[in-house]
Formats: sequence, structure tokens, C-alpha cells
Amino acid sequence: MIPGHAGRTGLALSAHDITLSYDGFQVLRGVTLHIEPGRITGIVGPNGAGKSSLFNVLAGSTAPDAGTVRLGERDITRLPMHRRARAGIARTFQLARELDSLTVLENLLLAAPNNPGESLWHIFTDRGAIRAAEGAALEHALTLLQRTRLLRLADAPAGSLSGGQKKLLELCRALMLEAPIILLDEPAAGVNPALMEELAAFISELRGEGRTFAIVEHNMDLIAALCDTIYVLADGAVLTEGAFAKVTADRRVQDAYLGVTL
Ligand SMILES: Nc1ncnc2c1ncn2[C@@H]1O[C@H](COP(=O)(O)OP(=O)(O)OP(=O)(O)O)[C@@H](O)[C@H]1O
Ligand SMILES: [Mg+2]
Repeated sequence: MIPGHAGRTGLALSAHDITLSYDGFQVLRGVTLHIEPGRITGIVGPNGAGKSSLFNVLAGSTAPDAGTVRLGERDITRLPMHRRARAGIARTFQLARELDSLTVLENLLLAAPNNPGESLWHIFTDRGAIRAAEGAALEHALTLLQRTRLLRLADAPAGSLSGGQKKLLELCRALMLEAPIILLDEPAAGVNPALMEELAAFISELRGEGRTFAIVEHNMDLIAALCDTIYVLADGAVLTEGAFAKVTADRRVQDAYLGVTL
């Protein structure tokens, strides 16, 4: 059971017949997908396929033109992002969104629910507030840093981290929310192979603890190693779904990656 979300850990997050356009250009065309509780769902596809846009719809930062998003049986299509986060859905961004001038630890404490500063301004002007952070949040942050081997960098400015370390920090920030469902947009991008293995082991461990993940990723080794089921998106539609061996053997998937018209 995940602290803070007792009883909510077993819910599936699903999208039903989602359509989305930007300036008349259809980015998502009738996408249906199920992120099953306690499992890792992969979302792959060529650049521009609509993967990040789908995450935006699932996390609530973009409203779809049509279709529904559900958390369990509950229709959350119109629920704003901050309320979805409170309902247990956390996400990371393709480009890490750490605050460069704050330390690694401060970035994590800021991500905690009810962080001591409440406002960013408070954090900047009263660093004592950080020291007064609730023990639980501080302990949680330090545990996450230890598990991702970032502990020795706790007091370093986040802007000084490597690309891979920033990805780990981004993951830790999502985990500070203690959300049962975590959407990761390209967690391995820019991560060196050794760090990537640690990242995979960490995500796998978290699944073992009952967390649910959806992962958008171009790194097929990571997808193969982690995902229980994989959706392939191409041109804003689901091309196929299933186990790694099945989807990668699909000729239409191979064609989509080569840019061949289907
Ligand atoms: N805010 C926006 N305004 C206009 N067009 C957008 C916007 N966001 C995304 N798009 C367009 O929607 C399409 C899908 O973009 P999206 O970022 O979802 O793709 P992706 O599958 O995540 O690609 P990548 O693998 O390169 O990250 C692209 O053609 C993109 O240019
Ligand atoms: Mg993307």
C-alpha cells in the first residue's frame, strides 16, 4: 500500500476514443488505452506520433476535443491537473523541469505535497523554511536520493546535474507526490547505460511495491526490460498493442518506424 493513497492503489487509468487537434491538425485520432494497476504500460512510436500529447490528456494539462479519461470507473476528463495529481496521478516531462538554482534536495521538498514554503517566493527568501520541512517529507526525499544514488548531490544546484541525473531527479520529484500512478515521458533520454540500468531496476522495484507506470520511451531495451504491455502509436492512432515480442514482430510497426505509408 502506498502512503497517502490508501485504497486508491488499485485503479486503472484509461483513455477512451480520445481525439485532439491543434489548429485543425489532428494529433490524436480515437486513442483508447488502459493503464492497468500494478503494471508497467509502454507507449512507443515515431517522433510526433502523439505520445506526449496523450500524456497531457491523461494528466489533465490538455483537454481533448472528444473522448473520456477515467480513473477506475470515475470520469475525470474535466478534472484539472492539480486535482488529478491529488487523485493519485503524477507525471514527468520529456524535458526535465527542475529549478536550476535550487539544490537537488530543495527541488524534492518543493515537490512534496504541502511543502513548507507553499509558495516559491517563500523558498527563495527563507531558506530556514527548508530546514523546518516536515520530517516525513525530508526523510522521503533523502530515501529517494539514496535509492537513485543522488544523495551525495543533495546540496548541489539542480542545474549542475548531468542529463541522466536530471532525469532521475525528475522521477524523484514525481515520486515525492506518493502517487500510485506515474506517467514517465522519456525517462531514459540522455541517460548513460549504467545509470539507465539503475533507473530500470528502481522502476521495477517500485512496481513490486504496487505502483502503476506508463512509460513513453524511444529506448527499446528499457521498454523490453520493463513493460508488461506496449501500445504503439503512429500518426495519432494506436497501431497495435500487446507484449513486446508481439508488437515488434508486427510488420505495420516496423513500417511505421521506417516512415513507410501504411
Ligand atoms: N502545443 C502544441 N501546439 C501545436 N502542435 C502541437 C502542440 N503539441 C504538440 N503538437 C504537435 O502534435 C504532434 C504530436 O506531438 P507529440 O509531442 O505528442 O509527439 P510525440 O509522440 O511525443 O513525439 P516525440 O517522440 O518526438 O516526443 C506533433 O506534430 C507536434 O508538432
Ligand atoms: Mg514526446
